Amino acid sequence: MTTLGLSVHDVLTTTRSVRKRLDFDRPVDDQLLEECLEYAVQAPTGSNRQGWRFLVVTDPEKKAGLGELYRRGWEQYAGMPASAAALADGEESERASQQMRVMRSAAFLAENMHRVPAMVIPCLPGRLDQAGFGAASSLASIIPSAWSFMLGARERGLGTCWTTIHLMFEEEAAELLGIPYDEVSQVALITVGHTLGTDFQPASREGGAAAVTSWNSWD
Ligand SMILES: Cc1cc2nc3c(=O)[nH]c(=O)nc-3n(C[C@H](O)[C@H](O)[C@H](O)COP(=O)(O)O)c2cc1C
Repeated sequence: MTTLGLSVHDVLTTTRSVRKRLDFDRPVDDQLLEECLEYAVQAPTGSNRQGWRFLVVTDPEKKAGLGELYRRGWEQYAGMPASAAALADGEESERASQQMRVMRSAAFLAENMHRVPAMVIPCLPGRLDQAGFGAASSLASIIPSAWSFMLGARERGLGTCWTTIHLMFEEEAAELLGIPYDEVSQVALITVGHTLGTDFQPASREGGAAAVTSWNSWD
C-alpha cells in the first residue's frame, strides 16, 4: 500500500473537491480503489444492514455516456437560482469569490467528465424518493462510507469530487450501467484520479465551526 503518510488532521482538513488538478492521463489501479472501498465498508450502517453498493466505472464508453448525462445536467444547473454562481450574484465577499471559483472549477469538470480515470457510484437498496421518514437513515447508511472512501483516496494521492448532477438523469444512468432503477437508488457519482501534486490546503469556511454550533439551546 503506497500512502502519502499524512496525519489524520491533514487528511481531515485537506480532502478537497479536486477537479482541475486531476491527472486525466494516468489510470488508477483497481487495487487502490479496492483499498479505499475497504475503508468504505468499515463505516457505520443503520441497523447493521450493510446495504451499501459501489459501482466502479472505468470503461471508456460508459464514462463517455455518464459524461454526456452530466454535461446535460450541468447546463441546466448552471442556469438555476440555486447554482453556486447565482448564490454569489451581486455579493462582494470572500464567500462570493469562492463560489465563483467553484463554478469555474465545476464547469471544467463538466467539460472533462469523460476523461476522469474512474467514477464510483455509491448506491442503496430501495428508492430514496419513497423512503419517507426513513430517507435520512438510508442516506446516513451510505454517505459516511462514501466519505471514508474519499479520505482513503486522499491518503493514496488520489483526488475525488462528490457530484450529484448526473442524478437529474438517474434513470438513464441506471440503464447505461444495468442498475435496476426501481430497486436501487444512486446517491452520487464520485470522480477519482491521481492528483497533480499532493499539497492541498484547508478550505475557508465562514466563521469556522463556532459560527454554526450552539450549545444546549438553539441560539
Ligand atoms: C451534496 C453535494 C453535492 C455536490 N455536487 C457537486 C456536483 O454535482 N459537481 C461538482 O463539481 N461538485 C459538487 N459538489 C462539491 C462541492 O461543490 C464542494 O464540496 C464545495 O464547493 C466545497 O469545496 P471543497 O469540497 O473543496 O471543500 C457537491 C458536494 C456535495 C456535498
